[in-house]
Amino acid sequence: MKIPDSKIDEILEQTDLYQLVDEVVPLKKAGGSSFKGLCPFHTEKTPSFNVHPDKGYFHCFGCGEGGNAISFAMKYHGLSFPDAVRMLGERCGVEIEYDQTASKDAKDIVALHEELIIDSRKYLYSIEGKKALAYLTERKFSDRLLEEYQVGYFPPNVDPAKYIRKYDKSVLINSGLFKEGKYGLRLMFYDRVMIPVKGVTGKTIAFSGRTISDQQPKYINSPETEVFKKRRVLFNMDKAKQSLRKSEFAMVVEGYFDVMRLHEYGYGNCVASMGTSLTSDHIGLLRRYTGDIYMLFDGDQAGYKSALKSLETFVQADTFPYVVFLPEGEDPDSFIDKHGKDSFDQLIGAKKDLFLFAAEVLLKKSKDFNAKLRSLDKIKSMLISVKSPYRKDYYAQKLAVMFQVDENTLRKDIDISAAKTTLKRTSGTVEKQQERGRGVTYFCERDFIAALVQLPEDVALNYTDNILPEYFHDRRMSEIYKKVLDVLENGDNINVLLSTPDIAKELSPVLVSDLNSDLYRSAAASREKILANSVKDSMNRKIKDASDMDEKRRLVIEKFNTKKKLQEK
Ligand code: UTP
Ligand code: MN
Repeated sequence: MKIPDSKIDEILEQTDLYQLVDEVVPLKKAGGSSFKGLCPFHTEKTPSFNVHPDKGYFHCFGCGEGGNAISFAMKYHGLSFPDAVRMLGERCGVEIEYDQTASKDAKDIVALHEELIIDSRKYLYSIEGKKALAYLTERKFSDRLLEEYQVGYFPPNVDPAKYIRKYDKSVLINSGLFKEGKYGLRLMFYDRVMIPVKGVTGKTIAFSGRTISDQQPKYINSPETEVFKKRRVLFNMDKAKQSLRKSEFAMVVEGYFDVMRLHEYGYGNCVASMGTSLTSDHIGLLRRYTGDIYMLFDGDQAGYKSALKSLETFVQADTFPYVVFLPEGEDPDSFIDKHGKDSFDQLIGAKKDLFLFAAEVLLKKSKDFNAKLRSLDKIKSMLISVKSPYRKDYYAQKLAVMFQVDENTLRKDIDISAAKTTLKRTSGTVEKQQERGRGVTYFCERDFIAALVQLPEDVALNYTDNILPEYFHDRRMSEIYKKVLDVLENGDNINVLLSTPDIAKELSPVLVSDLNSDLYRSAAASREKILANSVKDSMNRKIKDASDMDEKRRLVIEKFNTKKKLQEK
């Protein structure tokens, strides 16, 4: 019997690795967000056992043992994989439903959603829905728009009998929409306006319910399920994707109602996240359909802060969005209702580059010269990661003017910082190399795989293009890479692979390190190296197999030239 992948994810997410380890190995705070203790897997006097609760990995620099919470439980408590998962599940209260009928359930779950939409629409237009309909009408949502978005309503205490009769209990539970209560199963939405959330293909995969009284919280979303992963889903993507292909940009707004209102006004290129800040998966998804991203933030402090917070995610994804701030107290829905389409277009026209906006905010906060330099330093550390040389130039120019510093000095400073960062990376690798007596090739192959398993699957898959397992020099890494490829190509769960003790052990030093915080760069750099190695290998093979001396000589020269070209690159 297979434990569903989503359960494994959920258990790993819910398990506090710090607590799990600290119960058996007292931990002390180390640098950053990591902890140290005496390794339980070998005898030592000074702690070299590292735990990174944020990342969910541990690694012992003494004996090399390492992995995630599941591999820790397996190793420490001597459990099998399913037993370790079960034990962790019990600890954090995640119940494991066995998944013999996964695909059948998935179909039924979608059918259940469709049925709930129909029922919620009936409720909205029934006597029980009077208050809800009045609320929506008051907010000027027309019947047509409500129909288009299939907005409905569930009154308090919907009788679940009908659904229980029709669907397996596992379907109702796995849909996340029903909960086991004192009196049996009940629907988790209670007196809420229901907004269906669809995947890219238009299948309903979740609901968001807005209260019409003063229930808290204002919105309740379906929990994460096999089919609903918040970090990947954008509300309205199913409808927006058509117009995004034609439009030059996507608008990301904060609320579902904002999306619907703008849709009504003819803006088909609008999406919203599920109440979280934009993830790299979201960015990747949008970029598949359109060029630019405009982030529209409500006119409150929260919007302002999340704009700044999102910068790093964007820079990492090599994406540079514009930001638009609504006037205080307004959101796109209220703004366009009050001021009309022309004013809204003007507002969007006054967009700002997020990078420069963040620099401005930092500058404004800097009260004196020292503070100004510190702010410049912060911005500079982001600028180093900007890939396009033109963009880098452009920002450097702007920053020099803004911060009133000499442009050339700033550029030189940026180059030096970039060089230092690279140096730090490589020297770290050299130390580790000597520690274990392994070559640069091994480390770059390992870094590549470690980056792949941490990146969003679709991004990771891109990096694997043209990289064959045969290119790996280290046989062990080649085997692991094959497994990673399998997982990525089949859309399986990478966490299962990472819970395999010997694989976890091999990769954990990289997984716990801070050096690989820039996963995109790490993946790209190690990928280049592996490709270069494969070119070198094939040239060497040709030279070895060459029939006569002239041919050999010609090939050696060719190899030399190729090497030079690669180095220049
Ligand atoms: P807002 O509080 O700005 O709500 O939250 P809104 O979308 O403008 O809704 P109305 O106009 O008051 O009805 C913005 C978004 O944040 C998420 C939702 O995605 C919401 O659309 N959110 C907000 C939640 O997930 N839970 C909450 O309790 C509140
Ligand atoms: Mn609103």
